[in-house]
Amino acid sequence: MSVEATTRAGHFAGVGVGPGDPELITRKAARLIENADVIAYHAARGKASNARRIAADLFPAGAIEEELTYPVTTGTTAHPGGYAGALADFYEESARRLADHLDAGRDVVLLSEGDPLFYGSYMYMHDRLALDYDTEVVPGVPAFLAATAAVASPLVRQTDVLTVLPGTLPEPELARRLADTDGAIIMKLGRTFPAVRRALAAAGRLEHALYVERASMPEARWLPVADVDERSVPYFSLIVVTGDSLNGRRSRDEQASVAGSSTCADARELLVVGLGPGPDGWLTPR
Ligand SMILES: C[S@@+](CC[C@H](N)C(=O)[O-])C[C@H]1O[C@@H](n2cnc3c(N)ncnc32)[C@H](O)[C@@H]1O
Repeated sequence: MSVEATTRAGHFAGVGVGPGDPELITRKAARLIENADVIAYHAARGKASNARRIAADLFPAGAIEEELTYPVTTGTTAHPGGYAGALADFYEESARRLADHLDAGRDVVLLSEGDPLFYGSYMYMHDRLALDYDTEVVPGVPAFLAATAAVASPLVRQTDVLTVLPGTLPEPELARRLADTDGAIIMKLGRTFPAVRRALAAAGRLEHALYVERASMPEARWLPVADVDERSVPYFSLIVVTGDSLNGRRSRDEQASVAGSSTCADARELLVVGLGPGPDGWLTPR
């Protein structure tokens, strides 16, 4: 998407760098990074930025780096406005830092893990800068597609409904939505994992649910959700429930007969339920 240019000289780009494997960075993203004056990225306090790690080999010599460090990653803060107040201040301050570069005529690239507009922190900068500056968004491979590729099982076919759920939803709502879909992706795990697993069981979908950790990264691994040790679920993890797993409804012959006939246009619905902001086997890849 391109937003109407203003008289400002700096170009602002929200660039998806994919789920972790640098080979999944698009050529367009690479070109913009290689030509940037300023490269910005989000990071959790005390942790290296994952987006930076993915794209660092492409940084041009002399590029200015702007690390946008989240002040908090959980609900605990001394800010008078609480977690929401701390984040609001952080976004305003971050946007001011990027705007200063743009006002000085410098081209700014803001890196985003996966895709910038799919639960990405980039969106909070887009909200504040896109109307005032020449802005471009470059899509990236989202983590859930890297996870699906890792387990190498078809996710949705033909008229299947895919539901993307944040694990932070209340357990009964998770169970209700899981019982009412074909394929599902559950993101934002960590402390939410025990409730998510109970919701999968309540919806009758636990048996075929697959947990995928650090998809497309060298240490990627996955295993049945039922077998996961809930004490060690990292931020970079999600759950894949394939449409095919619904009541084991498709035999291999049926799958073969529909192979090649399914397109995005067949899908009757892609249902995405909102996820809040956050920086936040086993088996091995085949
Ligand atoms: C704030 S969302 C960012 C999503 C990202 N913009 C995308 O397009 O995939 C962060 C969540 O994405 C998931 N995630 C991101 N990278 C992942 C990876 N490499 N493997 C598994 N899950 C990942 C996790 O569920 C994590 O809690």
